[in-house]
Amino acid sequence: MKIENKEDIRDLFVGLDEKVCDCNGNCIDAINFDNAATTPPIKSSIEYIKQLSNTYASIGRGTGQNAEITTNLYRESKDFLMNFFNVKDKEKYIVIYVSNTTEGINKLANTLSKSPNELILTSRMEHHSNDLPWRKRGEVDYIEVDEHGRLKIDELEEKLKRNNGRIKYVSITGASNVTGYKNEIHSIAKLVHKYNAKLIVDGAQLVPHTRVNISGETDDEQIDFLVFSSHKIYSPFGVGVIIGLKEDFINPDPDYIGGGTVELVLDNEIALLPPPERNEAGTPNFLGVMGLINSLRIVNSIGYDNIEQHERILLKHTIEGLNEIPKIINYGDTEDISDRLGITTFNLEDMYHHDLANILAKRKGISVRHGWFCAHPYCRRLMNVSENEAKEFLQNPAKKMFGMVRVSFALYNTIDEVDIFLNVIEDISLGKIQR
Ligand code: ALA
Repeated sequence: MKIENKEDIRDLFVGLDEKVCDCNGNCIDAINFDNAATTPPIKSSIEYIKQLSNTYASIGRGTGQNAEITTNLYRESKDFLMNFFNVKDKEKYIVIYVSNTTEGINKLANTLSKSPNELILTSRMEHHSNDLPWRKRGEVDYIEVDEHGRLKIDELEEKLKRNNGRIKYVSITGASNVTGYKNEIHSIAKLVHKYNAKLIVDGAQLVPHTRVNISGETDDEQIDFLVFSSHKIYSPFGVGVIIGLKEDFINPDPDYIGGGTVELVLDNEIALLPPPERNEAGTPNFLGVMGLINSLRIVNSIGYDNIEQHERILLKHTIEGLNEIPKIINYGDTEDISDRLGITTFNLEDMYHHDLANILAKRKGISVRHGWFCAHPYCRRLMNVSENEAKEFLQNPAKKMFGMVRVSFALYNTIDEVDIFLNVIEDISLGKIQR
């Protein structure tokens, strides 16, 4: 399907024609520019779930015909994912389902075995979900970002070299949820492997917009662990995915245990199943998984190249438009946008981010996200705010939390929508729309 056929593309999704009520009670068209948070479902994924509900039964536990259908589809889904992400050596990797990326990274932090004196390396670009679980696990060091908010990639090798042997895992976002910068995960992987560490990629923002090749072009380019969520890739049914090296999950102390994780339980002894079963306690979210698989099939049929190209056009048009509007403060590099996904963040001078987002929604039906997007250390750096300034509002009710406004695209968004958005922002900036 061609992405230019915008009616056909939009027709793939649930809810895009739903009107929303403005502050005067009028029903108006809605524009969703908050796709980095959550995307609408693909219609056929809902249909697929409905169809599979007819034979829905237990997984890996029953002998009935429906249990067999469900179990087989569940197992095949893991094979599908290995193929989708080009896992060449399928014996080496496992797929574990969780409920979202946050749970997936917490699971890795809780499960991957710890070495004495361990140091985890991550970055200041991260979403809290790829920062806080590591802080909870132990000592963490961070790769800084530069004045545009890109990773200072030289620090990666410096830190790996300086701490040689202490860093066993490096956990880096594939793409930022604030600026949309894509990190060069395969060259990062090469460096990480050179120092005998393993690479975890937070794929929450990357997977919906760019094809991820776990195996890379050469052995040292491989991604050791990839984590992502279904709700950002048109399948909001509560599934997260970890694809990772099996050897690292052979931990006698998995984070959860219970149904489905054991071979035998005696009064005082437990024999665990091998991974991935030992790492997936309880009955899995089968219907959610199948929704995800269907959505990935649709994304594949549209083609990642087409998606990337389309979203890049939207981004370029947005940034060029914002640059023309008085009083706009953009964050991130707006000159060279070649390494950015369809995400951009900005403020309007003299206007609080919440108020701006509220006007967009209540007057014009445009959904965005505002704040610091669960990436406070990164946003604080982008806004050049000190830690003392950032925390003032905690003590002083007269102060407010800092923030910005974020626009994030999905494959169904259009240039017409961007133009409507830009016109509204210009009108607000020029005072034509009352604050
Ligand atoms: N991580 C999601 C976002 O950036 C929720 O909005």
